[in-house]
Amino acid sequence: MTPRDALPVATGIGLRAPHLRHVQAERPPVAWLEVHSENYFADGGPALAALDRIRADYPLSLHGVGMSLGSTDPLARAHLAKLARLIARVDPALVSEHLCWSGVEGRHFNDLLPLPYTDEALSHVCSRVAEVQDYLGRQIAVENVSSYFAFAEATIPEWEFVAAVARRTGCRLLLDVNNIYVNAVNHGFSADAYLMAIPPDAVAEIHLAGFDASGPCLIDTHSTRVAPDVWALYRRAIARFGPRPTLLEWDLDLPAFAVLEDEAATAQAILAAHHALAA
Ligand SMILES: [Fe+2]
Repeated sequence: MTPRDALPVATGIGLRAPHLRHVQAERPPVAWLEVHSENYFADGGPALAALDRIRADYPLSLHGVGMSLGSTDPLARAHLAKLARLIARVDPALVSEHLCWSGVEGRHFNDLLPLPYTDEALSHVCSRVAEVQDYLGRQIAVENVSSYFAFAEATIPEWEFVAAVARRTGCRLLLDVNNIYVNAVNHGFSADAYLMAIPPDAVAEIHLAGFDASGPCLIDTHSTRVAPDVWALYRRAIARFGPRPTLLEWDLDLPAFAVLEDEAATAQAILAAHHALAA
């Protein structure tokens, strides 16, 4: 296995269950892979065995979707214990979660819901990030989420809130450029102002995905190719932050792995172009 601090500054692909067998058998030339942590929380079974074998060939990032970091419920110790056990098993290069909440008072939702961007929520979520980092004994990266509503109580722009979490806790950022674009359109703010507020040193990884534009607002479906405007924003993000490990996410209407490789190649070309400019 490659060491855990070696997430390549290159394009990776989000590995989903239908592609496990293909990746195991064909070992496609992908720089790194990311999986959803919760899919591997079982004590054993074929999925975990497959992940063990894949991990021998690829650097790996563990991406969580179920911690409910921003909730006011106590952090679920059983969840953290399972995550710690998986980290010990696969030695990931990066561990990330979403800057969101997805349950309260024991009730759980399927959505990654935005926080009210207030001083109180900022203090609360920072204490939770610190608690997770203390428990795991390592930095985590937190990801900005897409949203379709905002709280009337909010007093802090989303980009300042995200940047403040990194500054106060020392955590890294998983900057989802598609989510920035979706929110910029849905809430009417400048995606470039968002990028400018983010401290470059904090950006550990970038996500790219496709959205659905058929309704009254953009929906972050991870079901299509990356939109041209998002590719343009990604170029500007790389110009500001420098090349960063970049992940192509696709979750719904999953196409053949070759389509994901094709999208990843586009991102890789943008990273390479920046390297060439810098040389
Ligand atoms: Fe993402």
